[in-house]
Amino acid sequence: MSDVCAFDDLDDGSANRFEVEGVPVSVVRVSDDVYALGDICSHANVSLSEGDVWCDELELECPKHASAFSLVTGEPSTLPATQPVKVFGATVVDGRVIVVDPAAASSEAIEGAN
Ligand code: FES
Repeated sequence: MSDVCAFDDLDDGSANRFEVEGVPVSVVRVSDDVYALGDICSHANVSLSEGDVWCDELELECPKHASAFSLVTGEPSTLPATQPVKVFGATVVDGRVIVVDPAAASSEAIEGAN
């Protein structure tokens, strides 16, 4: 779980790159909601946070070849990318944007149960 920034620091309809436990993550604000995807395109080593956000479609477009990735599922809706990017949990708590790696969160839950 990482506190990446203040919600007010994010412009509506923009993507920003942060490191979450050493992994680059693109954090996207659409209106009052935040989303977080792995920042590296699944097609090539390109930072998705440099791309455009399509607010109505809830998609982030790769700046290199324009594959558009769902902010919800991480799946590309257009070629050339065919593989999804990882989806992180993103929420706003007390005006701060919190990003959670779902894999780390589930292992913490397992450790907590033991
Ligand atoms: S590098 Fe992203 S679609 Fe090609």
